[in-house]
Amino acid sequence: MENNMVQSIFGLEGKRVLVLGGGLGMGEATVRLLASLGCEVAIADLELERAERVAADVRADGGVAFPFALNVLDDAAVAAEIARVEREFGPLDGMATVIGMAAWGSLIDIDLETWDLDHNRNLRFFFVAAREVARHMIRRGAPGSIVCVSSVDGVRSAPNHGSYGAAKAGLINLVKTMATEWSPNGIRINVVAPGAIITPRIPHTGEAGEAAMMERVPLHRRGTVDEIAKAITFFLSDMASYVTGQTLAVDGGFLAANIFFNPQPQTVGE
Ligand SMILES: NC(=O)c1ccc[n+]([C@@H]2O[C@H](COP(=O)([O-])OP(=O)(O)OC[C@H]3O[C@@H](n4cnc5c(N)ncnc54)[C@H](O)[C@@H]3O)[C@@H](O)[C@H]2O)c1
Repeated sequence: MENNMVQSIFGLEGKRVLVLGGGLGMGEATVRLLASLGCEVAIADLELERAERVAADVRADGGVAFPFALNVLDDAAVAAEIARVEREFGPLDGMATVIGMAAWGSLIDIDLETWDLDHNRNLRFFFVAAREVARHMIRRGAPGSIVCVSSVDGVRSAPNHGSYGAAKAGLINLVKTMATEWSPNGIRINVVAPGAIITPRIPHTGEAGEAAMMERVPLHRRGTVDEIAKAITFFLSDMASYVTGQTLAVDGGFLAANIFFNPQPQTVGE
């Protein structure tokens, strides 16, 4: 297919999208894919040099990028920077938030500071950022698309990272309510729930038990950051123009799997 035909199917050419956590991993892959489809991308990251490195690559390929430093745990900074992006970069057509982290430990022992930290860095910041972007869209009377990244751990149990699982589950419900409240203003909002993904921070190479664990994933492997970027881009694009309030698991079949069945290649009988 011609490149411009692909671009028109996605409808992202000339659209402005903000990616929070766009300096590395899934966020970086999302920025690169959006830019390749003609999107102008604002890239926020705690580590400014990460955002600037990705922006430099986008510009070298002829794209438009607007990198800046942001700590999403700072509510006031989130609102102020979104306002600055709207002013200096241009009105946003979309946002993807690709930030989150888990504290490890059993619920029986977890302290409340850790509980709050997991809720702040997975759920609260998304509420603050999504509401701010939606307020700008609603004031302008412009439609838009917002995507956040949850996890299969927000659908299944999350043993030894229960505060993360609870926060990720919260995203899934929050997005349903946001979609219900904001759809009349033309704002679509959806969730991508990754399974086990290879990322620069957690490469998962050579781990003990890795092969046995992947046996239980129907596709028998971890996913890639590019596979998450594709799902995020789908939701941001016109391809998903009638999709809102949804959670798409990008997990190699993990959530569909049955613990009593060890998926193996099938053979066809005579
Ligand atoms: N890796 C997996 O297997 C997996 C599985 C399920 C869900 N997830 C989710 O995917 C998302 C991305 O995970 P990842 O491991 O690629 O992310 P990551 O930890 O690599 O972070 C992505 C970027 O976010 C930035 N960042 C971190 N804290 C920030 C803050 N406070 N303010 C601004 N920027 C900040 C980092 O600097 C980094 O560049 C997260 O929401 C995570 O919970 C990951």
